[in-house]
Amino acid sequence: MQLDGSVCLVTGASGGIGRALACALAAEGAHLILSGRDEARLAETVDAVDTSRCLACYGGDLRDATTLNHLAQLAARHEASVLFNVSGANQLGLFESASDEDIEALIGINLVAPMQLTRRLLPLLRARPQAAIVNVGSAFGAIGHAGYVNYCASKFGLRGFSEALSRELADCAVRVIHVAPRATRTAMNSAVATRLNQVLGNAEDPPDVVAQAVLAAVRGNRKRIAVGWPERFFIRLNQMLPGVVDRALGGKLMLVKQTLQSAGAQE
Ligand SMILES: NC(=O)c1ccc[n+]([C@@H]2O[C@H](COP(=O)([O-])OP(=O)(O)OC[C@H]3O[C@@H](n4cnc5c(N)ncnc54)[C@H](OP(=O)(O)O)[C@@H]3O)[C@@H](O)[C@H]2O)c1
Repeated sequence: MQLDGSVCLVTGASGGIGRALACALAAEGAHLILSGRDEARLAETVDAVDTSRCLACYGGDLRDATTLNHLAQLAARHEASVLFNVSGANQLGLFESASDEDIEALIGINLVAPMQLTRRLLPLLRARPQAAIVNVGSAFGAIGHAGYVNYCASKFGLRGFSEALSRELADCAVRVIHVAPRATRTAMNSAVATRLNQVLGNAEDPPDVVAQAVLAAVRGNRKRIAVGWPERFFIRLNQMLPGVVDRALGGKLMLVKQTLQSAGAQE
């Protein structure tokens, strides 16, 4: 798909991956509608991209219908052809310690909001000669992991949504792309999450590596990509031989619990 000259709506643009993606899209010649909650950080993203590429900016909570409706109006006004659902949040801690509100909040931002925004934009995207919906999931959307139960549930849901919608739209020009980054160096990962990654030996990518992988997926007509090795291998292994991954991760459960305990963490 040609990104040069296209209009792209990017959620999560005040965050690490969203900002890197906005910069990469602008460099590619795309025009941008940017969204995030923190208006100061959103303004920093606008400063980081070529300002002439930025058509509109909107700060608001995506769990709020007013934000979704406003973004849909902006997308219609500027004839957007690509939606990047990047916004998201994480929760690290044992499932027993999570409240009902924690569960609702995380499923709300990681799964419900991208679905509701996508639904609002679909008639517009269908009317374009070429269009795409890019959902930024996670390797934890294909591998269940202790300490990240709510996050995994939300990202497994996003992957299911992407696959089912892609198949439902197979007879039109709207492509649905699911991208699964591994751990990435952004504000999403607290000090405890970063320590846990170190303890478990999980590599962290810089956000621009993820941004380039997203662009490559869009250009290369890919429906699903996972970023990083050996995560790509473990995703396949988990699909084919989940018992092997049960045993491998089971051996690390004590490390997860010890790291959470030592941090007194329920984030
Ligand atoms: N970092 C990782 O290790 C990693 C790994 C795999 C996948 N991912 C996924 O990559 C995506 C981007 O994450 P990131 O690493 O760039 O994290 P980040 O730097 O924390 O950025 C998260 C973005 O989501 C926005 N957001 C969060 N809650 C929101 C809400 N209720 N309404 C509107 N916007 C909201 C944030 O807005 P404000 O900051 O303005 O509130 C921010 O722009 C997420 O979907 C994440 O799950 C991240």
